[in-house]
Amino acid sequence: MADQTLENLSTEERRFEPPADLAADANVKEEAYDRAASDREAFWGEAAERLDWGQRWDQVLDWSNPPFAKWFVGGTLNAAVNCVDRHVDAGNGDKVALHWVGEPEDDTRDITYADLMDQVCRAANALTELGVQKGDRVAIYMPMIPEVVVAMLACARLGAPHTVVFGGFSADALASRVIDCGAKVILTADGGYRRGAPSALKPAVDEAVAKVAASGVESGVEHVVVVRRTGQDIAWDDTRDVWWHDVVDAASAEHDAPMHDSEHPLYVMYTSGTTGTPKGILHTTGGYLTGTSYTHWAVFDLKDDDVYWCTADVGWVTGHSYMVYGPLANGATQVMYEGTPDAPHKGRWWEIIAKYGVTIFYTAPTAIRTFMKWGDDIPAQHDLSSIRLLGSVGESINPEAYIWYRKNIGGDRTPIVDTWWQTETGQIMISPLPGVTAGKPGSAMKALPGISIDVVNDEAESVGNGNGGYLVIREPWPAMLRTLWGDDQRFIDTYWSRWDGLYFAGDGAKLDNDGDIWLLGRVDDVMNVSGHRLSTTEIESALVSHPKVAEAAVVGAADDMTGQAVCAFVILREAAGDGGPDIVEDLRKHVAKEIGAIAKPRQIMIVPELPKTRSGKIMRRLLKDVAEHREVGDVTTLADSTVMDLIKSKEGSSSED
Ligand code: PRX
Repeated sequence: MADQTLENLSTEERRFEPPADLAADANVKEEAYDRAASDREAFWGEAAERLDWGQRWDQVLDWSNPPFAKWFVGGTLNAAVNCVDRHVDAGNGDKVALHWVGEPEDDTRDITYADLMDQVCRAANALTELGVQKGDRVAIYMPMIPEVVVAMLACARLGAPHTVVFGGFSADALASRVIDCGAKVILTADGGYRRGAPSALKPAVDEAVAKVAASGVESGVEHVVVVRRTGQDIAWDDTRDVWWHDVVDAASAEHDAPMHDSEHPLYVMYTSGTTGTPKGILHTTGGYLTGTSYTHWAVFDLKDDDVYWCTADVGWVTGHSYMVYGPLANGATQVMYEGTPDAPHKGRWWEIIAKYGVTIFYTAPTAIRTFMKWGDDIPAQHDLSSIRLLGSVGESINPEAYIWYRKNIGGDRTPIVDTWWQTETGQIMISPLPGVTAGKPGSAMKALPGISIDVVNDEAESVGNGNGGYLVIREPWPAMLRTLWGDDQRFIDTYWSRWDGLYFAGDGAKLDNDGDIWLLGRVDDVMNVSGHRLSTTEIESALVSHPKVAEAAVVGAADDMTGQAVCAFVILREAAGDGGPDIVEDLRKHVAKEIGAIAKPRQIMIVPELPKTRSGKIMRRLLKDVAEHREVGDVTTLADSTVMDLIKSKEGSSSED
């Protein structure tokens, strides 16, 4: 964090004024802030007018029963119609919606809005044939192929909430999500391409379906629909499995879209919290689509001829809001890429930007730091002059990465929008507006028009400029989560109970002397690894489920590349002895199996004891000192203050990835 303070930057580096050409032509002007502040509901009502509604709403916001918000009460709409049909109806059927790029070279598809409409209608009919009805949940576990977008929109069209599970998650993680939301159909693929080789997905689905059946839930998974992507051999269950191409291609391309209530559930996205079980964040239709489409248009200053590329995987909320719903509702042309940035060479992303003339590029600081490590000469070999705007999301962008990004990718001319938001907020909440707000490397700057953010102390008092505290949201916003799937109480406890009437985001933040916001990272037991949220407790539970493990404590330690890295301290059971020579690798594999490869600890230390207070609480702060190779802090509150010496003595023998 130290390098993010203003003091460490020279004056020239601190502030980039908005370019004059952008300012003149910006979608949103300075006046929007005041207008939104003077009548927030009228402002969001106007944003909602950008969508097509069946029935117009009677009331913009019903906040009579906080924290349960209702937006655009009485309104009806169809998200898929807003993302697809209305662009075709407006005469833009030939406009490219997706320049899809597969990982194997020359494996590309351009999909127009008319193509997308054809596919979405067929898929909606196919799902109906398979028994999917409005309100049924559908799980989607797919690689980054066009069918994943079609699948999401087909579900939205039917009013069947989808839950997309990141393809890198394990069978166990998929099963627990399917069980939690009661999905009866899973849409998947045989596999996808990653780092030059096909990787499998269907076997994990088979395993997950068996787990769901074994869990004793009332209704299991009735169908698995499989896209043939790689052609690899897969097991097949004739009673349950169908090929996507058999059912979708055979279905009619005509589909009458029903209108759904503005508050009809659109999707559930699971995310890590401070406890072991992931939370099912529920987003609904009208407010979510209003919030994502407006912010996509405003923050990225989207114009008709832009070519936009968000590199997020669709398995995360960024893929939902800023690859599917926001950009498609705005009729944008975008790039979608299946693979990794280094396949088959480290210039792949820049080659794609040059080929398609990408104008707006949105990625994560962890990727930027990786490119910095690979060297300036790699992007320099490609023509990136089409780019006019850069975006960043997932964690604070450290000033060094910001400046590198601007210079090497943005040709030292493009603004950078550092966007702060969360799975829960659904839409971008804090960001500069290009053409309006200056950029300061490391600061996400200001709450967007219509958004009320504050930084408060323990007593919920605003800290004021120049001070730090907790980031909170004071007023409801359209794309806010409505609840946690099936658990209203946990929704209240997690976000709304710390201070009356304030949404607690879980982040620390500081206001500088100009009142601009600097995010300081999580203040709870949630880690941020490569922009992905992981829960310490969830990884601890995974470790403890290994037969050789008695106890485990996990901390997020600072990491140059990934922001934070998972570091685990493990006590083995007596009967396991020293665990054997492969114990560390076994445990890492076990975590990957339980959760997914992204949760694998970078470092595992086998220790004889854990530092605990007299009441038995693990003092993670001290473990963090060890993981970050620092002098260990104050140990006086430990039940046994010699424990840290024991742990330190093991430090040299730990395994680091
Ligand atoms: O800690 C903040 C961090 O990511 C968390 C939200 O994670 P998730 O729900 O997975 O969504 C990630 C993509 C929106 C936040 O609580 N975060 C996200 N964006 C930023 C950020 N921290 C600092 N600056 C950002 N721009």
